Amino acid sequence: MKFIGVTTLAAALASSTSAISLNARSAQDVFVPIITSPTASSVWTVGSTQTVTWETANAPAQITNSIGQIMLVKGGTPTPIVLATGFSILDGEASFTVPDVINGTNYEIQLFGDSGDFSPAFTITGSDSLF
Ligand SMILES: *[C@@H]1O[C@H](CO)[C@@H](O)[C@H](O)[C@H]1NC(C)=O
Repeated sequence: MKFIGVTTLAAALASSTSAISLNARSAQDVFVPIITSPTASSVWTVGSTQTVTWETANAPAQITNSIGQIMLVKGGTPTPIVLATGFSILDGEASFTVPDVINGTNYEIQLFGDSGDFSPAFTITGSDSLF
């Protein structure tokens, strides 16, 4: 399965990491920002404000899709939870309130824009929910 860009939530949910292919475009056109936060040692508390950050210094002059979206991933599986959307991928950061999801040490965020790259796994805690 190949995508020319990942532009829809449906495409995001239907795809696994390995299924996201950018073969149709040359590598130099694709901005794959390095996520600098969260890291593997990050701990987010439900209800707190958190900021995802990524490097923008290596952004190409032209970006096919500069509108960013951050999705929550758990255990390697995309969730329908949108943490932030509608920002510019060139902002380098986006902040939001952590939703009430169950405690877990296997959360990741996926940053969509020109690509769909993942953070390391990190922890979310502070929930009363058992499931
Ligand atoms: C989730 O973690 C918080 C903080 O450690 C704890 O107080 C809470 O009881 C945990 N929730 C569950 C359902 O275990």
